[in-house]
Amino acid sequence: MKAIKVGLLGIGTVGSGTFNVLRRNSQEIRGRAGRGIEITMVSRRNVALAKQIVGEGVTVTADPFDIIRNPEIDIVVETIGGCDLARTLVLEAIAAGKHVVTANKALVAVHGTEIFAAAREKGVMVAFEAAVAGGIPIIKALREGLTANRIEWIAGIINGTTNFILSEMRSKGLDFATVLKEAQRLGYAESDPTFDVEGVDAAHKLTIMSAIAFGVPVQFDKAHVEGISQLQAADIKYAEQLGYRIKLLGLTRRREKGIELRVHPTLVPITRLIANVEGAMNAVVVQGDAVGTTLYYGKGAGAEPTASAIIADLVDITRLHTADPDHRVPHLAFQPDAISDTAI
Ligand code: HSE
Repeated sequence: MKAIKVGLLGIGTVGSGTFNVLRRNSQEIRGRAGRGIEITMVSRRNVALAKQIVGEGVTVTADPFDIIRNPEIDIVVETIGGCDLARTLVLEAIAAGKHVVTANKALVAVHGTEIFAAAREKGVMVAFEAAVAGGIPIIKALREGLTANRIEWIAGIINGTTNFILSEMRSKGLDFATVLKEAQRLGYAESDPTFDVEGVDAAHKLTIMSAIAFGVPVQFDKAHVEGISQLQAADIKYAEQLGYRIKLLGLTRRREKGIELRVHPTLVPITRLIANVEGAMNAVVVQGDAVGTTLYYGKGAGAEPTASAIIADLVDITRLHTADPDHRVPHLAFQPDAISDTAI
């Protein structure tokens, strides 16, 4: 069967990661998806740089709309970020009958309702595993693994930059501004760090998880959002002396009157697992009525962790649209001959 053709809108850190992982693991991915998945077209303003990344055999354009107009492209992956151009591109891709995979949490949190309605009408998929907690498959956990549950609450460290800053302030006794510079030097913080440090990035991700867990529309404007920029090293030290760590948590839960959505610095007892999540990592705790408490931990950002989530969505879409019934549902890609008969 012919490979499914993918167009990448933007080939920066995440786009390059996706390109590289798809090439490196192409055999495994083909086995799981039921057919090959190939990036055949990419867009970037700096065409020469994009060509250096993708090499021969991939069409490079400066105009992202060329990808939308290309009838050969089955799935569009949006990694350009921001809301305005990304929204237009995604809506046009949907109108052109293409499936969309996006890593853009702001786009999904703010324009999700409009985008999903357009996709439903056109009968295409919009997938966004990479938009929340990077490499942690939390969207699939909520939608698939926990689908039997009435979700009671979700609490998470869903911004790696602020968790890095809080960890460094605590372990080294440094002030906020000094550690923020270090986070920027290491490439954790966005170039404008406001979304990270003021809790907006976490609120985007929380809004998306909440919508899935509780079956409500994405309602970013209803979230209470407070960041960490006012915290001092002394606050963190005193919390420690009292047996707590300060974490920027996103919390969403059912209340009698509706769904609570809030992001703010929170005192977490040191004895809790989530209090011990340190550095630029993410962790999400989900409470379901049947399963009880579950915890998901991993890298919430970075080229290949984010690529891992994007490709999972590409495989899902490919599986659902393949003619081969063997691949319509996830399977083990089981090869009996590959099993060693040596006891481990
Ligand atoms: N700046 C974000 C973070 C990247 O620090 O978690 C992923 O959204």
